[in-house]
Amino acid sequence: MTKYLVTSALPYANGPLHFGHLAGVYIPADIYTRHRKLQGEEAIHISGSDEHGVAIMLNAQKEKQDYKSYVDHWHKDHKNLFDKYGVDFDFFGQTSSDYHAEEVIPWFNALLEKGLIEPREGKQLQCGDCHNHLPDRFVGGECYECGYEQARGDECPNCGIIIDSVKLINPECQICGSKNISEVSVTQYYLLLSKAHGDYRQWLEAAMPRFRKTVTNYVDSLTKESLHDRAITRDLDWGIDVPIAEAKGKKLYVWFDAPIGYVSNTKQWIKETGRSDHYKHDWWNNRDTHIEHFIGKDNIIFHCIIFPVMSMASEQVHTCYDVPANQYLNLEGKQFSKSSGWYVDAHEAVDQFGSDALRYYLTAISPEGSDSSFTWEGFQARVNGELANNIGNLINRCLKFWKKNWPDGMSETEIKAYEHLSDMKKLRAKLAVSKDHLDKKEIKRALEEVMTMGHLANEFFSERAPWASYKIDPHIAAKTISETAAMILVTAAALKPFTPSLSAEIFALFGDVSEEQQSRLYQEDFDVIAEIFENAGKTPVKAPKALVPKIDDDVISDLKEKLKALSS
Ligand code: 2FM
Ligand code: ZN
Repeated sequence: MTKYLVTSALPYANGPLHFGHLAGVYIPADIYTRHRKLQGEEAIHISGSDEHGVAIMLNAQKEKQDYKSYVDHWHKDHKNLFDKYGVDFDFFGQTSSDYHAEEVIPWFNALLEKGLIEPREGKQLQCGDCHNHLPDRFVGGECYECGYEQARGDECPNCGIIIDSVKLINPECQICGSKNISEVSVTQYYLLLSKAHGDYRQWLEAAMPRFRKTVTNYVDSLTKESLHDRAITRDLDWGIDVPIAEAKGKKLYVWFDAPIGYVSNTKQWIKETGRSDHYKHDWWNNRDTHIEHFIGKDNIIFHCIIFPVMSMASEQVHTCYDVPANQYLNLEGKQFSKSSGWYVDAHEAVDQFGSDALRYYLTAISPEGSDSSFTWEGFQARVNGELANNIGNLINRCLKFWKKNWPDGMSETEIKAYEHLSDMKKLRAKLAVSKDHLDKKEIKRALEEVMTMGHLANEFFSERAPWASYKIDPHIAAKTISETAAMILVTAAALKPFTPSLSAEIFALFGDVSEEQQSRLYQEDFDVIAEIFENAGKTPVKAPKALVPKIDDDVISDLKEKLKALSS
């Protein structure tokens, strides 16, 4: 049976994560893994902090912290944020750990042995004042293509080209600010992607039908003619040592070791949980495993070109099955930018609103097919108008009525009325459609379908008007109430991957509903509804409170003001 190895991009341990990361990568990956697990399928969600590279070194230096303390700080901060948002990982590791380096070395050696890595002499910049070698972002300057003055040594944020740092105009050392820069000759080790072009294209052509159009179009045109060799070592003092004597002092380039983090973290997960399976035999190299990398669009090249080539050529692990890459999420129409204050603290937001409201909105606006934008007004409108009205209110009205009028429980025929209700068939079909979208990683459309389940239950409840029928025949009203509650339970199961804590609160209104019962419901076993009602004593065990609090206008105005003030 297929098993699912879900990974989400290892976030750099280099500053706060924002809504864009959550909506683009971590929440969709979490929803997808939860869905697979609820279906009773074997699935794991693996990630961890990406802790090497020049950008991290620069910031640690600015903050006068040693590299390890710096990355440990951000690792903890990110893990804590994910916990608050209900983003669950089976394992969330660190690339600065020894177990990771141990996993990386055999990859390098295998590629070297197969003639896919070779040393080459090349030009590099060096600072005449602090004497550091200046790879990647250690140097900045003017872009030789578009003239943008703040281009970085690895890429130009303005025109997007990959920068050859020696060609930068007016280069400046980012460590000490000096412009006294010279070119030196250095040897670096190159990954000979060009040699793997044929095998790679064969793989890509078979894989492309599974990928999203946005991914396929980009990767196909980029790799049609050839692949370019890339330097995978650097002269730095933070990173994984290049495992050959002649390369003493050199470190592996961060993007060489980072994706191997998915593999090392899987191994460590097995070790720390004491499982008996093998990370390669049972997961990475198992032909029944679907390896699925959730990433943002800026990571496509590494996940769809370089890591697959590394995996194939080194024969360390199988290549991925799918790369669900999302587009970008903006904030009120502009790119998130911590430095210019165009930014919302994701910790503060979840402390204020809880995970359900944010997960709901961030999924509803998920940048799946195109860029999208978080707005405070949109957040308020969708939480109040959809989650609170469609789900929260219905549950309050229905279960309050039940508790008030049948506090000692309903009769057997009343609680089993849902078994004969044709709307339950419609609801089952909607649940199936939603899960089908989730199978295809169409997370946003899946949530839209779940919300139509809420509409169906609301329409049913309004049309049957139990408050009116109660006056004529309480038995009829009782049936309507228990039928609506049955629909609510199915909707709560459908919501479980998206808003797990709201879903748990809904189930808790009926006492102890086990995880197993919730999964059975998710798997469309509706007999479990009668069991749930029965266990609860045929009446809700708790009076519902406001399950989804509405967000007031003044709260939103304050947040908009705050954003304006921070960015001005
Ligand atoms: O873009 C990023 O945040 C990278 N740290 C993603 C790495 S993904 C993987 F390859 F590790
Ligand atoms: Zn310098």
